[in-house]
Amino acid sequence: AKDPVRVLVTGAAGQIGYALVPMIARGVMLGPDQPVILHMLDIPPAAESLNGVKMELVDAAFPLLKGVVATTDVVEACTGVNIAVMVGGFPRKEGMERKDVMSKNVSIYKSQASALEKHAAANCKVLVVANPANTNALILKEFAPSIPEKNISCLTRLDHNRALGQISERLGVQVSEVKNVIIWGNHSSTQYPDVNHATVGDKPVRTLVADDAWLNGEFITTVQQRGAAIIKARKLSSALSAASAACDHIRDWFLGTPQGTWVSMGVYSDGSYNVPAGLIYSFPVTCANGEWTIVQGLHIDEFSRKKLDLTAEELSEEKALAYSCLS
Ligand code: NAI
Repeated sequence: AKDPVRVLVTGAAGQIGYALVPMIARGVMLGPDQPVILHMLDIPPAAESLNGVKMELVDAAFPLLKGVVATTDVVEACTGVNIAVMVGGFPRKEGMERKDVMSKNVSIYKSQASALEKHAAANCKVLVVANPANTNALILKEFAPSIPEKNISCLTRLDHNRALGQISERLGVQVSEVKNVIIWGNHSSTQYPDVNHATVGDKPVRTLVADDAWLNGEFITTVQQRGAAIIKARKLSSALSAASAACDHIRDWFLGTPQGTWVSMGVYSDGSYNVPAGLIYSFPVTCANGEWTIVQGLHIDEFSRKKLDLTAEELSEEKALAYSCLS
């Protein structure tokens, strides 16, 4: 039998946490033959509720679940973890300035970066879900210099899956037949959902849809605004789809992407596609042997170029804002 993998979920008493931990314990993230030990972190006001989640995990009698650590102590939470899914954060509340939210999250990610760096297992891989996801991941990277940058990522897979879903609905095909959409840039409304290289079977999505106005207009805004549409409908933000996307992200990273298929991940830019180096930016990636590689050589037309640049500019501004919160 395999040794258990220790998976940390921060913000585990929250909405996404509640959807995510049973998925992990059931093998959705790491496969049906991989035992797991869950580490769940939340803050003291959520301690009782966190303990309730732990009780439910016991009650669910998951065969793969070999242990549960539920704690408000960041050191205990981070100790020995192989995977860290960072869902905890400070939400934007009514009347708050962007800078105030940024400042709260920068300080959270700075201190959790240090805890991970000191106490996580060697080669721990990190996925940041909490918003502003790209910039939180960047701060985590900066304050955990001994964690290789290739081990730090943020979630844009939900946006990627939303784009697959929209194309599948539009064409009336199974979502599993749609592949190679791309989310470029920030996990925000400036992200660019790109179908120029996407296919169904061996046919380009653009040819099959045969409606450039829709693909260059409503399709993009629908994916960009989908989070807001879910809040409007549910009065709560996306949770099950975010949790499922987090499992997809980690699964593909660890177990590899299928031949001929890429996915979108927020990763540290090396300057590919003229995206400024030093930002955490969503790119098309393939994964093998536990490592991602940015897909190279895709043609970027003028329309796309503007959109790639716009979302990069927003990320540069966020980075500057984050740094101004540190000083
Ligand atoms: P939530 O508010 O239900 O849960 C957040 C949890 O984090 C709460 O239990 C809170 O107590 C905890 N928390 C706060 N500060 C913490 C800290 N310092 N350490 C540990 N835990 C802490 O929020 P929800 O709906 O679960 O969303 C979580 C985050 O994910 C939000 O930032 C949200 O904007 C983001 N999100 C990101 C998506 C993506 O695709 N990247 C999609 C959907 C949400």
